[in-house]
Amino acid sequence: MTDFVNVENLTKKYGDLIAVDNLSFTVKEGEIFGFLGPNGAGKSTTLNVISTLIGYDSGNITVCGYDMAKDERKIKALIGLVPQDVAVYENMSAYENVAFFASLYGLSGTALKAAANEALEFVGLSEHRKLRTSKMSGGMKRRLNIACGIAHKPKLIVMDEPTVGVDAQSREHIMSSIRTLRSGGATIIYTSHYMPEVQEICDRIAIIDKGRLAAIGTKEELLEIITDVKTIYITCEFPPDQKESTELSVDRVLDDLKAVPDVRYVSFDPDESRFKIDVTLGSDAVTPLLRIFMDAGARIHEVQNEEPNLETTFLALTGRELR
Ligand SMILES: Nc1ncnc2c1ncn2[C@@H]1O[C@H](COP(=O)(O)OP(=O)(O)O)[C@@H](O)[C@H]1O
Ligand SMILES: [Mg+2]
Repeated sequence: MTDFVNVENLTKKYGDLIAVDNLSFTVKEGEIFGFLGPNGAGKSTTLNVISTLIGYDSGNITVCGYDMAKDERKIKALIGLVPQDVAVYENMSAYENVAFFASLYGLSGTALKAAANEALEFVGLSEHRKLRTSKMSGGMKRRLNIACGIAHKPKLIVMDEPTVGVDAQSREHIMSSIRTLRSGGATIIYTSHYMPEVQEICDRIAIIDKGRLAAIGTKEELLEIITDVKTIYITCEFPPDQKESTELSVDRVLDDLKAVPDVRYVSFDPDESRFKIDVTLGSDAVTPLLRIFMDAGARIHEVQNEEPNLETTFLALTGRELR
């Protein structure tokens, strides 16, 4: 596969804030490329730069062989952006919206009609083509947003969190349409902060954090980078007759856990009353961990082990949870 998108040392600032920091990656032709990172990582900024929506401070970008610095208009014509914030006109029908966006790419007459109808069919909105957008559900608007981005049959489709706030059925529909678009020859950049989706659909994944690339590769390659971390979940309760409040006990246990060698990361989920502890794979840290809980007077309900996954990989790379 040849490189379809090449981003080299991209930097984009908003005032003093460096939103994208010397970022480099390539997207191969015909792949579904995942862009994974927590809120504020710089995903949308990067995609908006690639989509020619916003400028950048430094770096080199080529798309399909065209240089962004020289051939921005050629690049714009190749790309379909499905923006993170749904950008459709509320007072227009589904059809009118898609036809409007397709017309911006130079389609007209019967070609425009056919393209708009095909895109609506594709996202499963044909029956609602005359429906005013303001009357649509959130999931329908998301699907319409996608139809608007793909009607002109772009070679590169850039999707920025297309499944945020959609119901399970729309999500399924969107996932399978992305695969269909790829089978039709499109290259896709897919952004999410929702790990399972990215894991399910993407050929290669870039993990970004604070505007920088933390890792890039196939799911298997990423897992190989960090095969040395596993997660232990300990569910417990602190008896109410204790001198200390539960909150204090939790804080103390967290502090003690952090001090154990081989412990990389700890957190507590109050809803589940569950501690999450990432430890070096193969370490015998479990005994000291359990001792901390016992010393704190905790009643342990359950101890679970979880082998490495992308979530732990992300954590190990960035020291932060994805959400
Ligand atoms: N138009 C803007 N003006 C100023 N700061 C912005 C703007 N857009 C994004 N940012 C900031 O840039 C950083 C990256 O944002 P963004 O690219 O939206 O991240 P993501 O899509 O990964 O959540 C964040 O700190 C965000 O607050
Ligand atoms: Mg974003």
